[in-house]
Amino acid sequence: MPDLKRRRLGRTGLMVPELGLGAMDPPPSPEGGETLRAALDAGITFIDTAREYAGSEMLIGQVLREFDAPAGLCLASKTFSRTANGAQYDIDRSLRALGRERIALYQLHDVSTDEAWEAVMHEDGALAGLQTARYRGLIDHIGISSHTADIVRKAITCGEFDTVMLEYSAFYPATAPLIDLAAEHDVGVIVMRPVGGSGRTSAMRGRIAGGYDGPLTPANLLRYVWSNPGVSVAIPGARYPSRIHENVATAADWSPMDEAERRALEAEAARLY
Ligand SMILES: NC(=O)c1ccc[n+]([C@@H]2O[C@H](COP(=O)([O-])OP(=O)(O)OC[C@H]3O[C@@H](n4cnc5c(N)ncnc54)[C@H](OP(=O)(O)O)[C@@H]3O)[C@@H](O)[C@H]2O)c1
Repeated sequence: MPDLKRRRLGRTGLMVPELGLGAMDPPPSPEGGETLRAALDAGITFIDTAREYAGSEMLIGQVLREFDAPAGLCLASKTFSRTANGAQYDIDRSLRALGRERIALYQLHDVSTDEAWEAVMHEDGALAGLQTARYRGLIDHIGISSHTADIVRKAITCGEFDTVMLEYSAFYPATAPLIDLAAEHDVGVIVMRPVGGSGRTSAMRGRIAGGYDGPLTPANLLRYVWSNPGVSVAIPGARYPSRIHENVATAADWSPMDEAERRALEAEAARLY
């Protein structure tokens, strides 16, 4: 199995594989446990989960109890709580479910409205809870996920967050300037929905099965994301081990896209539906 290339996760200083795993979907899948095992076997040591992803932390904890955790394992979880007490309570529950003594990265989940931003940044807000947990040695680093550009911008520039999770793909290139800004501030960038989400990938798979041989493929979508040097890690979701094997094969042997190829893929992506 080839080693996955690693990138620095911003100011955390952690070196993470450029291919991670978004573990939102494995729990309801009959092959969810196998998918996680396949990812760990392949050296995918960055796994994103959340309190909110029903059963995800439990499944990861179950799989990790079966064998020694791989070197450099970096688990990232999230809380939807907006208060300091709620966030600390969630961290305690994450630690128990994952079976860990500490978690490398803990994020504020989906802070996408001004109200949510005000709440988490309040002196009794969730950020304060994460800072207390970091002080207590329960988590190492603090991140935030958001679907709103203005909030990602504030999160990058306020100096409180080590990482941001944002959507970025050939379907959604609008966040490229935020990735540049994160690089300027040495904030790690975790890319959610790198292959466009389950609806689009299902449509793509159908087209490919029907004979489509154009550029809009999961492999090219990953190449697009990795071609941006400001990206630290892409976390495609998966319910089946075969997706892991395909994405690992792409990660083992990809070449950067030039500007023309990137624009062409964006145009093709815009035509999918
Ligand atoms: N913070 C937030 O608010 C937030 C929001 C959304 C997502 N996320 C994070 O981002 C992760 C990924 O997001 P996502 O799952 O919505 O979008 P995604 O990764 O862009 O798309 C996932 C879909 O791609 C399919 N897929 C993956 N690799 C494939 C391949 N090689 N060939 C064909 N299909 C492939 C998967 O299929 P199968 O499922 O059939 O295997 C799944 O349906 C989540 O797991 C989560 O960790 C965070």
